Amino acid sequence: MKLFSISALATFSALATSHVAQATNSFAGSNLYYAAGLSPSERVTLFSGMQSAGMKVLRVWLDGQSTASTKGTAITSYPSLETSAVGTYDDTVLNLLDAVMIDANEYGIKLLISMHSWNALSGGDIYGQWYGTGYFYEWANATSQFDNRLLHVLNHKHNTLGTPWKSMSKYIFGFEAQNEAMIGKGEAYIQAHQNWQCDRATTIKNELGSNSGILVVTGGESWMSESVQPSWLSCSAIDVISIHAYGVGDYSTSSITTYVNNAKSAGKKLLFQEWGACYYDTENNSCPVGNVLATSTRNSNLKNWASQITAAGVPWLYWQVLPNDDPHYDLDFEIGIGDVSWSTLQSAALAARQATAAFDYSAYLL
Ligand SMILES: *[C@@H]1O[C@H](CO)[C@@H](O)[C@H](O)[C@H]1NC(C)=O
Ligand SMILES: *[C@@H]1O[C@H](CO)[C@@H](O)[C@H](O)[C@H]1NC(C)=O
Repeated sequence: MKLFSISALATFSALATSHVAQATNSFAGSNLYYAAGLSPSERVTLFSGMQSAGMKVLRVWLDGQSTASTKGTAITSYPSLETSAVGTYDDTVLNLLDAVMIDANEYGIKLLISMHSWNALSGGDIYGQWYGTGYFYEWANATSQFDNRLLHVLNHKHNTLGTPWKSMSKYIFGFEAQNEAMIGKGEAYIQAHQNWQCDRATTIKNELGSNSGILVVTGGESWMSESVQPSWLSCSAIDVISIHAYGVGDYSTSSITTYVNNAKSAGKKLLFQEWGACYYDTENNSCPVGNVLATSTRNSNLKNWASQITAAGVPWLYWQVLPNDDPHYDLDFEIGIGDVSWSTLQSAALAARQATAAFDYSAYLL
């Protein structure tokens, strides 16, 4: 670098900057399903940490959180969007997320908003109470009531800016109807009810309009092949098919590339929306319990798998970055900012931002 004059250096860094902004660069991000409950100082910790890793997207959920400490994060508890009855809305969570998205934006980060979860449905939220986990996906009254929820969220007016979320592409990367729809019903059920996903995406897309600058996303399933159902590739309302995968085989570049090619020829984008490297040594990265892996082994898993996903050209969101030390509760893929594995994740995310992507996300990132 000593060879460059000051002006040559300036030119070089301008070129480097324009390269970063180029159409085909990949990116990384993270999930934090309970981000609505973060305090302002936790938000600063999370977003400045994510920014230092070049991360561009945070995926959040709307389901209520009753515990004051989740994964070691001290959060404000908040109710679900619909608690007493389907169609009766408590906007607390939406108002909390209004503040989260303002803060995120200052760090160059947008939100991916998951508007409901299989977890809440199967855990007996109001939809679970009224419909159970089967009729919810099958009965016309359930789907039309759920569509009303989606429309309510898309039309929520930001409580300080006054703009409806559906017009806030500066803050919002994408919307998905439900985290891991139908997941506990098994793969055959998901295959048989693919239309549920396309129908919800159509509701979302129709409300957003075709030039919203906000992506319509699927929300993922258990693993790669289950996450990429054939009719979703031909559903015009779906922009992005989310991959959730924790099995090591699904992290192989050559396996991912097959899906990339299918998605590209169908005109869809892929996002590796949930993945992680387990803290324990359980076989196949299956992570309920086990013996603690040596830090160096976990870090090399993290580094290798991230680079394999990046090499296939697919942007990824880690499950999850915490704004506190990871307390190592049960299913433990998390990495706290400042934990021993944080710098490895940081490097992997920065490398993604410099790499070429198979899909052009540039219009959707800050
Ligand atoms: C929904 O529709 C089904 C079938 O038509 C009916 O049996 C059920 O009572 C309805 N449920 C609600 C909550 O409206
Ligand atoms: C781990 O994955 C391999 C290959 O897919 C499989 O044969 C094996 O049964 C898996 N082990 C467990 C414990 O799931």
